[in-house]
Amino acid sequence: MAFEKIDQILEKYQYKHEEIIGIMQDAQIVENYLPETTLRHISNKMEIPLTRLFDIATFYKSFSLKPRGRHIIKVCLGTACHLSGGMQNMEQIKRTLRIREGGTTEDMMFSLETVNCLGTCALAPVAMVGEDYYGVVTPGKVEKILSKYTRKSRNAEGE
Ligand code: FES
Repeated sequence: MAFEKIDQILEKYQYKHEEIIGIMQDAQIVENYLPETTLRHISNKMEIPLTRLFDIATFYKSFSLKPRGRHIIKVCLGTACHLSGGMQNMEQIKRTLRIREGGTTEDMMFSLETVNCLGTCALAPVAMVGEDYYGVVTPGKVEKILSKYTRKSRNAEGE
């Protein structure tokens, strides 16, 4: 367990209780989710009740208490995206990756989430993979977009 990294994060924020959201956001980056062991560690070190940290982690959609894939896919289903085909894109992603909403592929490569508005409605329907934005997505483009990440991962593994 990477508590060393968590301790560095706590140091960076000087254990300030008012920075707890930032601390948890940074801690989540370490393993792409917030394991209970990490929350316990933060709770002990900062003397914040564990239940409080669980409350925060479950209140904000950006936190995950379950392991997530290497690439997080966010499909926008806000009004503009919903009206312009967001749902069809979502279905195409589910079919292509054999994944369900809120789920993760067996190989831990992708997780699939929905969001309400990514703030780029003019480009609807919008989706994100990790930090990359994709606008005017159609079901026909889904496979091509996803293949970039499967290729990247294969290259990173030296295949
Ligand atoms: S509704 Fe999708 S970006 Fe705003």
